[in-house]
Amino acid sequence: MKIFLDSADIAEIKSLFDTGFIDGVTTNPSLIAKSGRNILDTIAEICGVIDGPVSAEVTATDFDTMLKEGRKLAAIASNVTVKVPLTRDGLMVCRALSNAGTDVNVTLCFTAGQAVLAAKAGAKFISPFVGRLDDIGQDGMFLIEEICRIYANYAFSTEVLVASVRSTSHVVNAALIGADVVTLPPKILKALYTHPLTETGLDAFLKDWRDTGQSIL
Ligand code: E4P
Repeated sequence: MKIFLDSADIAEIKSLFDTGFIDGVTTNPSLIAKSGRNILDTIAEICGVIDGPVSAEVTATDFDTMLKEGRKLAAIASNVTVKVPLTRDGLMVCRALSNAGTDVNVTLCFTAGQAVLAAKAGAKFISPFVGRLDDIGQDGMFLIEEICRIYANYAFSTEVLVASVRSTSHVVNAALIGADVVTLPPKILKALYTHPLTETGLDAFLKDWRDTGQSIL
C-alpha cells in the first residue's frame, strides 16, 4: 500500500519525507489556503522534494476553465497529478487530461457509482472521503470495500486512494481491504509509529541497560 502525505506544509513534508515512508503528496484548496502561500510556488516546491505523484487541485467548476487550470498545474512538473472534483465537468476534464497523458485524481467521491464513472473517465486515482462519510453517520470504509470490489470485477486500473483519513484504524482497514493508497494528515502518520507500550518498554530496556554499565560502541 502506498502512503501519501495530505499536506501543503513544505517544512512538514520535507521532514516526513526523510522517513522514507512517503510515496506522494495530496493537496487541496483548503490545505493551500492554510499554508498561506501561492499555489503554483507551493506545488513546484513540493515536486522538488517528492519524486512521487503530487496532487494539485483545480479551483474552477466549468469545463473550459478547469481544463486550462489543469494544464497549467500539469506544466509545473512531470509528477503533478491534476485533481478535479467529481462533477460532470470534472469527469469530462478527467477524460480530456487523461487522453493527453496527464494523471488525474478525481476527488470528493462519496458513492461507488461515482467511482465507476471516474474509472471510465480514465482517472489515475479515485479519492473516496471516508472520514467525511463517518462524520454524517455512514460507514466510509464500506465504500472502500465496494469500490475495490467493483474495480477488481472489471480490472479497472484506477487506483483507490483513501482520503479524509481520521485515525490509524482507517489506515489498517484500508490495508485489510487492499486499497492502493492512503493519504494521511501528518498527525496520523506520526500516530502510526507511536504506541505507549513501545515508549514504556523502551524506557525499561534503557534503564536496565544503563544498570549494566555496558556500551555497544
Ligand atoms: C485528500 O485528497 C483530501 O482532500 C483530504 O484527505 C480531505 O480530508 P478532510 O476531510 O480531513 O478535509
